[in-house]
Amino acid sequence: MSYAQVIATLPDYIGKTVSINGWIANKRSSGKIIFLQIRDGSGFIQGVIVRDEAGEELFQNAETLTQESSVRVQGIVRKDERSKTGVELSVTALSVLQITHDYPITPKEHGVEFLMDHRHLWIRSSKQRAILKIRSEIIKAIRSFLDDHDFTQVDPPILTPSSCEGTTNLFHTKYFEEDAYLTQSGQLYMEAAAMALGRVYSFGPAFRAERSKTRRHLIEFWMIEPEMAFASHEDNLAVQEGLISYVVSHVLSNCSVELAALGRDTSKLEKVQAPFPRITYDEAISFLQANSFEINWGDDFGAPHETAIAKQYDRPVFVEKYPVGIKAFYMKPDPSRPEVALCADMLAPEGYGEIVGGSARIDDPELLLNRFREHQLSEEDYAWYLDLRKYGTVPHAGFGLGLERTVAWICGLEHVREPIPFPRLLYRLYP
Ligand code: 4AD
Ligand code: MG
Repeated sequence: MSYAQVIATLPDYIGKTVSINGWIANKRSSGKIIFLQIRDGSGFIQGVIVRDEAGEELFQNAETLTQESSVRVQGIVRKDERSKTGVELSVTALSVLQITHDYPITPKEHGVEFLMDHRHLWIRSSKQRAILKIRSEIIKAIRSFLDDHDFTQVDPPILTPSSCEGTTNLFHTKYFEEDAYLTQSGQLYMEAAAMALGRVYSFGPAFRAERSKTRRHLIEFWMIEPEMAFASHEDNLAVQEGLISYVVSHVLSNCSVELAALGRDTSKLEKVQAPFPRITYDEAISFLQANSFEINWGDDFGAPHETAIAKQYDRPVFVEKYPVGIKAFYMKPDPSRPEVALCADMLAPEGYGEIVGGSARIDDPELLLNRFREHQLSEEDYAWYLDLRKYGTVPHAGFGLGLERTVAWICGLEHVREPIPFPRLLYRLYP
């Protein structure tokens, strides 16, 4: 045998001898028969060793295996109706790379802090593996949707001289003698890129020094930021709902094993089809007031508000046209009602909150200058950004999709610490 098969492909090898490189997730032995739960990252398979058939040496060798021992296994793939994957392995040879002692994560229940301290090992468990696999498929789907719709990927800088989303939550660092900040959003650079390439997107990390400890906030998260020249607010929403419904259908068709491992109710995901409902901020405020929330026009929404709004729908909902006062400086005002912006937040169903935020951008040079003055932003620091309105300004729009919140929603997870391999949280920088 010259190469090892991966477990996920074993249903194609029924009756054949295969070789697998992996780890022992679990072992049960009756003294006459040993069942090994073998994992290799692509999936799990049950290996069976019958004492009378396998011979004493192989059986004794297998008896020494412990949880997370590393092995190379050879065996014959058998059809097995009781197995989730339809196959099991009759083990014929075993070579042990390491017998593991005292693996800290046992099949018993562990507390969240313990698991987070052992995140480097926790990601081996079947649920965590499923989440990371789905995250990867979501990224693949986002890229293929955008690539197929004529978007070009452009990478904005991570180290920046100024802020994009406001100065309150910037991570400061020294850039030799100058001050620098870790990026909060690549948007301003993506606006420059859209004027060069038309339709662009970035995919990278964003950093927010937010002192909020919620189940929706990470300090370091990943964002996809498409930006389109010659695009309106309406165009912007159409791309967003097309993208999200494509991503959900891609996961449904390609991740059934992983969704099952997570116990995800897929009937909820099947309903996620464009077009998505839209309500205005004004309508959302009236709805909240009618439902006994103490909120006034001009207030921003918190998690309970977003949850209450989203609960009325079976798919994501756009809340559009927020007051300009609670949104970023670059958002274009609605020409027919300048006190609100041509923006929208997409709220995921089932209480997951805002997964996308976007807007049309101010394209008028005068108006943008006024906004800079109102927000006390330095015209010198942002001179390059103002140039974009001096040299061939056009209507344009874009949005930011938060990857971890999207993965959390699609996987049905409680907290954003799980959809990212090594979360950075308010009180956690380890491992
Ligand atoms: O709404 P936000 O702050 O928008 C921007 O940064 C714009 N510049 C995007 C653009 O128009 N190009 O962030 C966009 C999305 C949010 O909807 C949310 O999904 C996610 O990023 N997000 C976070 N995810 C995890 N932890 C945090 N602290 C997040 N902050 C925002
Ligand atoms: Mg937002």
